[in-house]
Amino acid sequence: MPFDSHGHLMPGSLPNIRQVPQEIVRPPYVGLKTPPPHVGDNTYTTEEVDRIRAAGRVASRALDAVAEVVRPGVTTAELDRVAHEYVISQGAYPSTLGYRGYRASSCTSVNEVICHGVPDDTVLREGDIVNVDVTAYLDGMHGDLNRTFRVGEVSEEVNLLIERTHEAMMRGIRAAKPGRAVNVIGRVIETYAKRFGYGVVRDFTGHGVGSSFHSGLIIPHYDSAPAYGDIIVPGMVFTVEPMLTLGTHEWRQWDDGWTVTTRDKSVTAQFEHTIVVREDGFELLTVSD
Ligand code: MF3
Ligand code: CO
Ligand code: CO
Repeated sequence: MPFDSHGHLMPGSLPNIRQVPQEIVRPPYVGLKTPPPHVGDNTYTTEEVDRIRAAGRVASRALDAVAEVVRPGVTTAELDRVAHEYVISQGAYPSTLGYRGYRASSCTSVNEVICHGVPDDTVLREGDIVNVDVTAYLDGMHGDLNRTFRVGEVSEEVNLLIERTHEAMMRGIRAAKPGRAVNVIGRVIETYAKRFGYGVVRDFTGHGVGSSFHSGLIIPHYDSAPAYGDIIVPGMVFTVEPMLTLGTHEWRQWDDGWTVTTRDKSVTAQFEHTIVVREDGFELLTVSD
C-alpha cells in the first residue's frame, strides 16, 4: 500500500537486509549505535583525494546503473538492489548500510519525501520523481552523491523544479572558494531558489565527507550568516546537496525514524555532489568519468 487515496506516500514493506561479502572492508561505525568521532580536519592530501574520487566514482556509476532501471512499475527496493549490487561488485561498501541503524544501501526519496526515504515495495508510477542517494566506502574513504530521477514523463512544474535544483547545487558549488565562509554556499543557493518561490530546506545540510561519512562540518543550503562561518581552504572536501520544494521548507518525519517529508506534502527535489576545493576552483569527486 505505497500511496494513499490522495496519491501521497505511505510506508511499505521492507526487503530483507542485503548481504555484503565478508572480504569487503566495513566502515568503523558498522555495528555501533553512533559513529566514532571524526579524526582530523576537513582537508585532504592529493593521495587522499584520489581515494575519495575512487569511492565517489563507484557511487556515481551505481547511480548510472540505477538510472537504467527507473521506470513506471519498478519498486524503490529494486533501485536499492541495483545500487547495492554495483557497489559491492566494485569491492566497495554501501556506506548507509548499518549507519546509525539505517538498513539499506541507498536512500530512495519519492515525491514529497525530502530525504532519507527507505527503499521498500513502493511501486513507482508515471509522473513520480525519485531521488536516489548512494555513498560508497572504498580504501578508507567515502564518496557521497545523489540525483533526482523522473519516472516516465513528469509535469512541467516538477520538471523545472528538478532542473533548477541541479542548477542551485552547481551555483553553490561554484561559490565554494578559498577564503569565503561556507555560508556563502547557502546564500547563493537560497537566492537562486527564491526567484522561483521554492522552499529551501534548512534542517538537512551538506557536510564534510572523506575518512568519515559525516565529519561534523556543516554546509548550509540557506543564508545562515553569521552561523556556519567556517572558512573554506584549499583541499577541503565536503558535499553540497540542496533540497528545494514546491511549497514549504517545513518537514515531518515518519515513525520509521528516517523518512522526512514536506509538512504540506509538496514535491521536493535534491542533487548532491562531493567536491574538493582548489586554490582556483573546485573538482567534482562524484563523477563517473
Ligand atoms: N547520503 C546521505 C547524505 O547525503 C546520508 C544518508 S544517512 C542514512 O548525507 F542513514 F540515512 F542513510
Ligand atoms: Co551527503
Ligand atoms: Co548523500
